[in-house]
Amino acid sequence: MAETSAPTFYVDAPEAQKFVENVLIGNGVPASNAEIVARCLIAADLRGVDTHGMNRIPSYMTRIRQGVLDGTASPELTKITPMVAQVDGRNGFGFLAASKGMATAVEMAHEFGIGMVSIKHSNHFGMSAWIVQQAIDAGMMSLVFTNSSPGMPPFGGKDKLLGVSPIACGAPGGKERPFILDMAPSVVARGKIYKAKRRGEKIPLEWALDSEGRPTDDPDAALGGVMQPMGGPKGSGLSLMMDLFSGVLSGSAFAGHVTGPYDPSKPSDVGHFLLAIKPDLFMSLDDFRERMDYLYQRVVGVEKAAGVDRIYFPGEIEQLRQEERLNTGIPLVQAEIDALNDEAVKVGKPLLVMKGQ
Ligand SMILES: NC(=O)c1ccc[n+]([C@@H]2O[C@H](COP(=O)([O-])OP(=O)(O)OC[C@H]3O[C@@H](n4cnc5c(N)ncnc54)[C@H](O)[C@@H]3O)[C@@H](O)[C@H]2O)c1
Repeated sequence: MAETSAPTFYVDAPEAQKFVENVLIGNGVPASNAEIVARCLIAADLRGVDTHGMNRIPSYMTRIRQGVLDGTASPELTKITPMVAQVDGRNGFGFLAASKGMATAVEMAHEFGIGMVSIKHSNHFGMSAWIVQQAIDAGMMSLVFTNSSPGMPPFGGKDKLLGVSPIACGAPGGKERPFILDMAPSVVARGKIYKAKRRGEKIPLEWALDSEGRPTDDPDAALGGVMQPMGGPKGSGLSLMMDLFSGVLSGSAFAGHVTGPYDPSKPSDVGHFLLAIKPDLFMSLDDFRERMDYLYQRVVGVEKAAGVDRIYFPGEIEQLRQEERLNTGIPLVQAEIDALNDEAVKVGKPLLVMKGQ
């Protein structure tokens, strides 16, 4: 995609964290919950997943103001069996429900080898990788599934029915980097179209179809049409898998009935599914870590195809971006800064202080 010609400004992660927390608190979110939501959003910005970072604040705050997302809610946990728990998100932030869910899954996995958590009545939880990272930080492998609002047709169809719902999983490494696969089942995540729209950019023709079913490079036309599934029936099948595990199983909305984060007309009722797995169930932890490192080295050491500079392990590009952005700060264009500052002004909180200001 052509990069925007708009000048880019940078904000340091701690300043971004403080700013987002303040805006959330100003909208009635309890301080401890605001800290978690802000941390998850800034994690996305740091990893270069700008589509799912602090730029989501204006749309999330619109949902709170409209009364379709309860900013004051905290998730409620029920143990079902020693290895299975259910979280009711109580229409609060998905970040809170998923964070509590993964903490519980990890706790159960430490004791029993696996921990499975089903989450209902939740909201958008942004970038799945932060939940996978939460499990990795606790030394666990994980599966992280969610459903989402309709954005793609089932294979062969023309109507939006399936979510562009990411499938994510991870495993801790040894001396090398961990494995973090986090991917939408569409050619790209829909957030990349919203980002292009925000920045006044065109999109590649293979990303989406307009409402007439024609390929389009116009983000507005794409948002009025459908996303293209990755690999045809395979992307469509993966999205259905996310809906089955996250929606059908949990008791949340499914089959095209989840409401999107940019639609402030009603609660989202998103469902999630989290699984934590202890990696040393079948061998020692040292052996597992050694085997992970061997896999990493085999993958990145493979003979490169013509024109390729480097082979990356899943999640590695984002980890490198994070290391870079912890130094450079998080890039934003003026329109994004203005939209964020509007939210601060609405609740009487300080404006975002960009680097060098
Ligand atoms: N919560 C929601 O409803 C929702 C919906 C859609 C997407 N999302 C989020 O959007 C984000 C972006 O999704 P996406 O599908 O556009 O991601 P992407 O296409 O940028 O990356 C997908 C995966 O491929 C890996 N990858 C990318 N380039 C690579 C390379 N050159 N070599 C090796 N591995 C590589 C990445 O590390 C990642 O694991 C994700 O974080 C996802 O969770 C969230």
